[in-house]
Amino acid sequence: MSISTQNIPLNNGIKMPVFGLGTWQSKSEEVKTAVRTALDVGYRLIDTAFNYQNEDLIGEVLEEYLKTDRVKREDLFITTKLGSILTRPTDVGYSLSESLRKLRLSYVDLFLIHIPLVLKKNDPGNLFPMKDGQLDHDGNVDFEGVWKEMENLVFEGKAKSIGVSNFNASQVERILKVARVKPVVNQVECHAYLQQRKLENVLQKNGIVIMAYGPIGSPGSSAMLTVPGEAPPPVLLEDPVIANLATKYNKSPAQILIRNLLQRNLIVIPKSVTPSRIRENGNVFDFNLSPEDMLTIERIDKDLRMFKFHIMINAPDFPFSDPV
Ligand SMILES: NC(=O)c1ccc[n+]([C@@H]2O[C@H](COP(=O)([O-])OP(=O)(O)OC[C@H]3O[C@@H](n4cnc5c(N)ncnc54)[C@H](OP(=O)(O)O)[C@@H]3O)[C@@H](O)[C@H]2O)c1
Repeated sequence: MSISTQNIPLNNGIKMPVFGLGTWQSKSEEVKTAVRTALDVGYRLIDTAFNYQNEDLIGEVLEEYLKTDRVKREDLFITTKLGSILTRPTDVGYSLSESLRKLRLSYVDLFLIHIPLVLKKNDPGNLFPMKDGQLDHDGNVDFEGVWKEMENLVFEGKAKSIGVSNFNASQVERILKVARVKPVVNQVECHAYLQQRKLENVLQKNGIVIMAYGPIGSPGSSAMLTVPGEAPPPVLLEDPVIANLATKYNKSPAQILIRNLLQRNLIVIPKSVTPSRIRENGNVFDFNLSPEDMLTIERIDKDLRMFKFHIMINAPDFPFSDPV
């Protein structure tokens, strides 16, 4: 099996690759090399965001590959997300049109509300305005109004599918109450230490798939994940259970963690800017974890959220105070 043939049908009938490249914190030339490497070895799903400030670089590579017919547009699956300074109905269309301009595309395959958070845009050049040590939020998110504008982008053909990210169960249900177009995914932190089984149940009932971010525990982000005054989170890649399985299957810990999520029928988007790791992470379609080993990994769940988002804890719609 190769990377590019593995798809999952979404609730709107569109097929989405189950595996792709994450690009948060991937900048400058390294993100271009990462996307080129990924496309060369068969990745077709690329995950970016307005907030990541790398869409223009990704767009350069996409144009290069599309112009030379190294990849067809219909085989690519490009995901981007609403800017957090733009999470209001009047700004949704602008956010996607800016992303499309930078990505050099006429449509994205998937457009997500990045996080239920709206930030002040007093200075549009500052994507993360701060006040008193917290992100400077602009009150409550107009969930229903924003979703309506997301739907309009589908009707206009600018986004093939729409979804949410970092939404808790009740926030997803709030969208479902008004949706003419249902969200296809909820992109959330999901890995062996935060397996999200309860959220998965709620989403499954509504035909929504988890798109797992931080699938190998986001090891490069410890400075960002560590809450001042608290110990840093444990390193998932160093878990002894995962290490044992890596030895057993002759694979790396990262490959075991990715394979585990794929066998749960989730969508997985590990990030790397290192060509050898991009290849390694994609080399997970030639083995199966046994049902017993899947269960072994299920047992190491710690319900441990690495991404605490402590700089937005005061935002009125902060999603992670709810247990699910
Ligand atoms: N919606 C959201 O709010 C949200 C939040 C976080 C992430 N995401 C998305 O999900 C993607 C993945 O999450 P993430 O970037 O936080 O974490 P991740 O994919 O779990 O981990 C990425 C880190 O692991 C390293 N790495 C990659 N492959 C490796 C391997 N085989 N062995 C050892 N280390 C390896 C990378 O280093 P190098 O790059 O140096 O190789 C990088 O530091 C993001 O890039 C982004 O697209 C979304």
